[in-house]
Amino acid sequence: MRLAGKKIILGVCGSIAAYKSALIVRGLIKAGAEVRVLMTPSATDFISPLTLATLSKAEVVSSVHSGASWNNHVELGLWADAYLIAPVTATTLAKLAHGICDSALVAVYLSARCPVFFAPAMDVDMWQHPTTRENVARLQSFGNRLIDVGEGELASGLSGAGRLAEPEEILDTLADYFERRRDLTGRRILITAGPTLEDIDPVRYLGNRSTGRMGIALAEAAAERGAEVTLILGPTHLSTDAPDVTTVHVRSAEEMYQATVERWPATTDAILSAAVADYRPKTIAPEKIKKEEGSIHMELVRNPDIAAELGRTKTGGQYLIGFALETENGLENARGKLVRKNLDLIVLNSPRDAGAGFGHDTNQIQLVDRNKVTPFELKPKRAVADDILDRLVADKPTLCD
Ligand code: CTP
Repeated sequence: MRLAGKKIILGVCGSIAAYKSALIVRGLIKAGAEVRVLMTPSATDFISPLTLATLSKAEVVSSVHSGASWNNHVELGLWADAYLIAPVTATTLAKLAHGICDSALVAVYLSARCPVFFAPAMDVDMWQHPTTRENVARLQSFGNRLIDVGEGELASGLSGAGRLAEPEEILDTLADYFERRRDLTGRRILITAGPTLEDIDPVRYLGNRSTGRMGIALAEAAAERGAEVTLILGPTHLSTDAPDVTTVHVRSAEEMYQATVERWPATTDAILSAAVADYRPKTIAPEKIKKEEGSIHMELVRNPDIAAELGRTKTGGQYLIGFALETENGLENARGKLVRKNLDLIVLNSPRDAGAGFGHDTNQIQLVDRNKVTPFELKPKRAVADDILDRLVADKPTLCD
């Protein structure tokens, strides 16, 4: 059983859909999970704590001040393997998104180190309201996982999107998470991310707008799924403190090239998401360049191509993924790079797509290999990372675990 032995916190909010939480608890217990239930005070108007306590075989907490030993919010946050909030109402969604900690349910959310799943339930107009859309996106941008609403008849009599996902779907989502969670065990994955900066003189450089967000999301997702990850990161304000991710900071394309190429032989897979500068100034002026009359010319020379070098030296078992950020002729250019650099897969995205590319929390990609193109919807970068890793596992199943 995929949920056997897992420690799950179920947070229940005050929605008519709260009655379904009884089925969720029963399903979890039947699957062999250990369950602790947290209720917001208004949830207790919709379903009795006694019902959920009986089904979960444990005391239910509905106040920050309840006193049993396991219900300290920090302890509980550390205890859990996953925190599922179902149903979550528009109000609690807003409180979670902004850290308004007026219930045990939100306090545990802020203390939890485990993945958090949230399954909203509300009326169609509330669900579509820009405030709700923004709160959902904000929660997702923190790495929390949305279990999307269903469509159909709503308690208000209206019809549309807003129903709590069915309990079976919620249980399946959790079980899928645990099943694939360690599917990269035994793999050593090298990830390049961020921009490279090419110095002109002691105070100036050539750079680009990459933040490294996509590569960091990939590193965190791969580590969470059991891989040993080395992140070769160009200069960016972002970083990760995820355990099992070793970060190597580099500045220029040449430094990134050295750091990556020397680690490649001991690597099972590489994902090259860095925006590597193609050119660097031929010489770096030792002193700050002073302005003169008229224009100046700077000679630029080619940087080494990391992807092409890894592709050239790739052995049978190694899998190599590149990125292509294209403003025009995306597929044609991506296929060209795939072949030229001997990649196994290329992640194509366009800065022209709303919400995709540099600086966004979301991305919209197509996965391109020699035979097919697989398009994906616009998603948080963390979910995009899992799509890319799912493909890696499908194309090259791991021998371990
Ligand atoms: N790449 C790399 N080293 C370089 C340039 C690119 O490793 N010096 C990698 C990128 O990280 C990416 C892939 O190659 O995974 C494609 O990058 P891109 O800049 O789009 O490719 P280029 O070959 O530089 O093509 P273009 O002519 O579009 O600049």
